[in-house]
Amino acid sequence: MIIKWLGHSAFQIITEHNLKILIDPFISNNPSCPVKVEEVQADIILVTHGHQDHFGDTMEIANRTGAVVVSNHEHSVYLSQQGFDSWGMNIGGNIKFQDINITMVNATHSSDMDFIEEIGAGGSSCGFIIKLENDRIIYHSGDTGLYGDMRTIIRDIYHPEIALIPIGDRFTMGLMEATIAVEWIEPEIVIPMHYNTYPIIEQNPLEFTEMVESLNTGTKVVILEPGEYYEE
Ligand code: NI
Ligand code: MN
Repeated sequence: MIIKWLGHSAFQIITEHNLKILIDPFISNNPSCPVKVEEVQADIILVTHGHQDHFGDTMEIANRTGAVVVSNHEHSVYLSQQGFDSWGMNIGGNIKFQDINITMVNATHSSDMDFIEEIGAGGSSCGFIIKLENDRIIYHSGDTGLYGDMRTIIRDIYHPEIALIPIGDRFTMGLMEATIAVEWIEPEIVIPMHYNTYPIIEQNPLEFTEMVESLNTGTKVVILEPGEYYEE
């Protein structure tokens, strides 16, 4: 299994059965993304919310690859109207895609559809818990602030082993909040995201590593450069 960071909150997970899961594919306008949008492959695209730095190139990629798009109900209605194979869901619900289970979970953020000309209401922002064929469980939090259910729901109910969480501050958790999130979620691995794409979310990830290590919870911080991947 490979978890490749494409910069910002964009990840491509390639599973043991070679399924390509793309999350928040902000590619062509993402200054930190090292790949061209025409090169990105996907079987399924997960969208956490309608902000253009997350919805990104969803339609272009889905159009070219035929990927299924999973999003909240509001985005799904919009995408269906545009002719996409769109699977809507809502917070707390599960879907199965081949041997993968995907749960939509809460995120404390907003979600207007700012990628269309007449900005539309985009429902709730969310995160995803992705359970792979090998039973490894990945949590992509989307954009979020710290919230208490990271302990009582994310950890206690779904117990993800690999957490992808934002550290860039301003629009999401910063270093302090993200460190507490790690303490609450207790993942084996944490990969920080949503930082250094722009000066406004500049962050030193090594500082995050130090802060997480000082928790002594055994969580390993994996710092990636855009284009790099974590493999196991
Ligand atoms: Ni956002
Ligand atoms: Mn964002």
